Amino acid sequence: MSKAIHDLVLRENVQLSPFYHRLDFTAPSPLPECEPGQFAELLVPPGPGVFLRRPFSIHAVDYKDNTISFLIKLVGEGTRRLAGILPGTVINTVYPLGRGFTMPEKGPVLLVGGGCGIAPLLFLSARLKAGGFRTDCLLGGRTEKDIIETADFERNGAVFITTEDGSLGEKGLVTAHSLFDRPLPYTMVYACGPEAMLRAVAMLAMKASVPCEVSLENTMACGVGVCLCCVVPTTEGNQCVCTEGPVFNINRLSGWDQAARIADSCPVI
Ligand SMILES: Cc1cc2nc3c(=O)[nH]c(=O)nc-3n(C[C@H](O)[C@H](O)[C@H](O)COP(=O)(O)OP(=O)(O)OC[C@H]3O[C@@H](n4cnc5c(N)ncnc54)[C@H](O)[C@@H]3O)c2cc1C
Ligand code: FES
Repeated sequence: MSKAIHDLVLRENVQLSPFYHRLDFTAPSPLPECEPGQFAELLVPPGPGVFLRRPFSIHAVDYKDNTISFLIKLVGEGTRRLAGILPGTVINTVYPLGRGFTMPEKGPVLLVGGGCGIAPLLFLSARLKAGGFRTDCLLGGRTEKDIIETADFERNGAVFITTEDGSLGEKGLVTAHSLFDRPLPYTMVYACGPEAMLRAVAMLAMKASVPCEVSLENTMACGVGVCLCCVVPTTEGNQCVCTEGPVFNINRLSGWDQAARIADSCPVI
């Protein structure tokens, strides 16, 4: 799969909530082929304190319009600066990087996203819909302000919501949603979000014997397998999340199956 270094031009900066912006860019030449789950390294506009590129999942791609979108959650100086850019701003971008989600052989499938972990899942849900797979999307956040783009997800499948404070959807963590109270009717679970959430989702999928892929968001520097700051222990040794991931089947992640086995034999967890 070919990679590109493009000066993307911002077409629109949409503020979706107090913490989230969607940036829609036009590419100067045809977009490279991108897979859901792959990411890009964006060069943050210059200023004190931010030197390295920042990684963001590919959120949406429109080959007809030659546009690509990223979802930005404000967490620090780099994301604050990106969220403040105006239409016409040029952002040098290296993409697509890493390995994305694998397509299922058949549906239905479940997508589970927490916080900015919904970013790669919108692109995935669109690709799954185009492939004719029935898709349920479970979106979780701390409060209703973290739940965004539900209408976009609804275009591709059914949407279920949890918030920790109960301000929208069912109250609690995504893994406490009533979807998990009965046998999971899915052929595959795809998840992206904080690692604790991914481990809990992985545990539920393993207990239900449903294959599961997770997209990890380890802190990255180079994004291309050189600095080794993003390694994760796998069944094949330590691997770079930026080149071998960010998407991994949970069976490849060392230790993730042990949590499921311990939980299985210990009813108090
Ligand atoms: C493969 C991949 C895909 C990602 N996709 C998205 C996305 O689609 N949308 C999005 O909003 N964010 C995404 N992230 C996270 C995003 O890259 C970071 O939030 C961003 O780099 C922070 O930059 P900053 O300068 O604003 O914050 P910094 O000043 O660098 O850090 C601010 C705080 O955030 C923490 N932080 C920084 N990077 C991460 C990280 N990767 N995971 C957890 N905490 C972090 C720092 O420890 C610090 O506490 C992704 C990360 C990876 C590795
Ligand atoms: S970020 Fe440098 S090796 Fe992965």
